[in-house]
Amino acid sequence: MIILFFSDVVGKPGRAAVISKLPSLIGRHRADAVVVNGENATDGKGIKPAHVEALLSAGVDVVTTGNHVWKQRDAYRYLDEQPRLLRPYNFLASNPGRGVTVVDTRAGRLGVVNLSGDLYLYPARSPFEVVNDALEELHGVRNVIVDLHAEATSEKVAMGWYLDGQVSAVVGTHTHVRTADAHVLPGGTAYITDAGMCGPRDSVIGVKKELVIERFLTQLPVRFEVADGDVWLEGVVIELGEDGRALRIEPFEEPA
Ligand SMILES: [Fe+2]
Ligand SMILES: [Fe+2]
Repeated sequence: MIILFFSDVVGKPGRAAVISKLPSLIGRHRADAVVVNGENATDGKGIKPAHVEALLSAGVDVVTTGNHVWKQRDAYRYLDEQPRLLRPYNFLASNPGRGVTVVDTRAGRLGVVNLSGDLYLYPARSPFEVVNDALEELHGVRNVIVDLHAEATSEKVAMGWYLDGQVSAVVGTHTHVRTADAHVLPGGTAYITDAGMCGPRDSVIGVKKELVIERFLTQLPVRFEVADGDVWLEGVVIELGEDGRALRIEPFEEPA
């Protein structure tokens, strides 16, 4: 199974680029499954149901999210109804939606788990405490990808080691800055600390850079807007063997 993973899609520029480039990228990488982190897909804050639907219609199999997921209120009910849209598993169990799903692909079943890191993101429960419960819900599915949406590199590296041999891949998201450490761990788990961003590079992690600089200079509230210049797609392509172990993980980047 070959999985294409697109990291944090930011705003309309990110969505448009994913949707327009997806057919050629699926063809070039011979991808069987597509997972997209969409936590910034609607104006940089969460994702509206219509934008999930647009990604799914374009060929995306599962949309994961993260700390911004609650910013779109009209997604709450949709999170309960749409099994292909995830929010971090370790949020409150009473929150809308789910953090784990299984989809059928032409190369077999794929399980997807969405987790939030603890540091700076303050989820209800530690991802380390509950990840085994999430994996149990997959009922023995061999191909499993975990999106750990987290700030701290140490937390993501530790989760990679903790899950090595138990899942096919641990992919970090949230920082919007891709790390140079994609590799397959000894137990057969593909790993990268952060897969990057699908959005404008002429920005500060997707936001108009002037606004972010103003906030740092004044330390006063500034209303952030999504930038639109120099849009790139970033993510990883992961190949799994028959047993669900990773054979390779490679970063990709593609100009819009
Ligand atoms: Fe993000
Ligand atoms: Fe985030």
